[in-house]
Order: sequence, then C-alpha cells, then structure tokens
Amino acid sequence: DRISLIGAPTDVGASVVGCRMGPAALRLAGLRASLEKFGAQVRDCGDVGGPDSPMAPPVDGYRHLPEVTAWNHAVFDAVSAELADGRLPIMLGGDHCLAIGSISAAARHCRDTGRTLRVLWFDAHADYNTSSITPSGNMHGMPVAVLTGTGPDALVGLSGAVPAVDPEHVKEIGLRDVDLGEKHLLHEHRVEVFDMRYLDEIGVRHAMEMALEGVDEDTHLHVSLDLDFLDDSIAPGVGTPVRGGPTYREAHLCMEMIADTGRLGSLDIVELNPALDVRSQTSTLAVDLVESLFGKSTLLRVHRR
Ligand code: ARG
Ligand code: MN
Ligand code: MN
Ligand code: MN
Repeated sequence: DRISLIGAPTDVGASVVGCRMGPAALRLAGLRASLEKFGAQVRDCGDVGGPDSPMAPPVDGYRHLPEVTAWNHAVFDAVSAELADGRLPIMLGGDHCLAIGSISAAARHCRDTGRTLRVLWFDAHADYNTSSITPSGNMHGMPVAVLTGTGPDALVGLSGAVPAVDPEHVKEIGLRDVDLGEKHLLHEHRVEVFDMRYLDEIGVRHAMEMALEGVDEDTHLHVSLDLDFLDDSIAPGVGTPVRGGPTYREAHLCMEMIADTGRLGSLDIVELNPALDVRSQTSTLAVDLVESLFGKSTLLRVHRR
C-alpha cells in the first residue's frame, strides 16, 4: 500500500474544543510506524490549514459555516491530490465535519475512474442533521446529510455532483444517540443503519457481512471512523462520548472484516480529543484499529468459513 497522511487540525464543526490536536496525537501514538510495519509506504503530507474557530453561535442553523467550508475545501484538495497520485489517503481530524471534504474527494475520484463509492460510517451518532432540525448548529452533526444531498450549496456540491454519495451506499454502524429529526430523515432517505440494538441482536459479524454486501472489485470503500463509535470506557478522548458502544474486540472485528475485502480506498480518523484523553489510551486504540484495518491478524492468513 502507498498511504498518505493528511492532518486537518480543527474543531470548527464541534462545540467541545480540543480535537484540533487530534492529528498531532495520532502521529505521537505511532501511526506512521504502525503502517510501515505492514510494508506500507507512507507519505506524511503534514497538516492542511484553515481559519481559526470563531466560537460563535449558529447563524441560520449553522455554526461557523464559512470556516467549515474553508476547511473542507482544503481537505478536498489535499485528499484529491493523493487519490489522483494512486495513494490511499488517511485524513486525521479534526472533527467529523471534515469528512465532507474527504468523502467528496473520494466521490469525485470514483466518478473519474469508474468505481463505485461505498461509505462505512462508524459512529455513535447519525450525523444526519440539517440546519432546520439540528439541536446544536454544530456541523460535525451534519456531514452524512450533506454528502447525500441535503445541506448548504457550497458543501453539497463540493464533489461536482449532487448527491456526492448515493444514500443507499452509506452504512451507518454503531449508532446509539440519534436526534428525532434525524431518525425521520434517515428513514426517508433510505440510509441503512446498524444501530447498537441491531448489533446486540444479530452480532457484529453478521452486521458487517450485511454492510459489506455488494462489495466487488470495482468498489472503493471509504471508512469514516468517529472514535466516539467505541464504548466510552475504552475511548474517553472524544468530545461527545456515549455509553453502550462496541467493545475492543468487536471494533477490531469490524476493521478485520474490512481488511479482508481488500477494497479499502480511503479513511478518516476523527473526533480524537487529546485534551480529554486519559494517558493516550484513545489515540493508542485508534492506531491499534488502523493496524487491523490494514491487515494485522493473529494468524498467517485469515481462516474463512
Ligand atoms: N446529534 C448531535 C448534534 O447534531 C451530536 C452530533 C455529534 N457528532 C459528532 N460527529 N461527534 O449536535
Ligand atoms: Mn459521533
Ligand atoms: Mn419516517
Ligand atoms: Mn461523527
């Protein structure tokens, strides 16, 4: 693998500040060396830049829309350049609004190369709010709605086509804190949700088999990993923790099953808040999960059913 690291040090889309330090903490936790252990050739592109967080209240339902737009343009450009160079970009957030930029870049790349983009969104939250239903105005609660066609023009059209991603090609996994307005919209837009109750009932293995259904040699898989997906007892370093998430082993199984497909094309690691982390356990766990995503396994080869 030829992998590129792109940092986006901002919390402009969140209300709790601190995930601007996420890229530094992921580098400090040894992300690059972990990837190189598996023979990857890693390019660290450094951090993209953007405006400071104004720490202002919402305007027309959006907090910091001009700043969020600027950061996402920067991420879009950086991720697009690495994809065009045949590399696998890892966007280091930063808050989850930045996935608008990275996934829009993946969407345009797939359109240009005749591939099908599928997004696996690992999160405690649906991130499916709009300006009219958001309880907070925070734009890290809106990226999936934007990417599937609902949101401000400047962001909805970033990939050059609307929607950037077919809602039927988005799978949301691990949800347990969804706002009422989001529930209606997710249903209406036919986004497939594997919420925690469903994972409890059918198990992670079966859920991931369903989420990966239809993946073939023309698929580009984009994984968007919000670290609040994980149970808050193992991942305290996030701004919006929620109890009742997947365990350490369940999270690894998700990553391992994606690795088995061999179709990972791009990745976000977002919402890591080092100011809230405890002895780097969340950043270390993020790097462990990336190892599984890039093929670390206990045995020489994976034994399939
Ligand atoms: N649903 C809430 C909101 O819209 C929380 C969203 C949290 N999102 C996240 N990426 N951590 O404000
Ligand atoms: Mn979340
Ligand atoms: Mn409904
Ligand atoms: Mn999120």
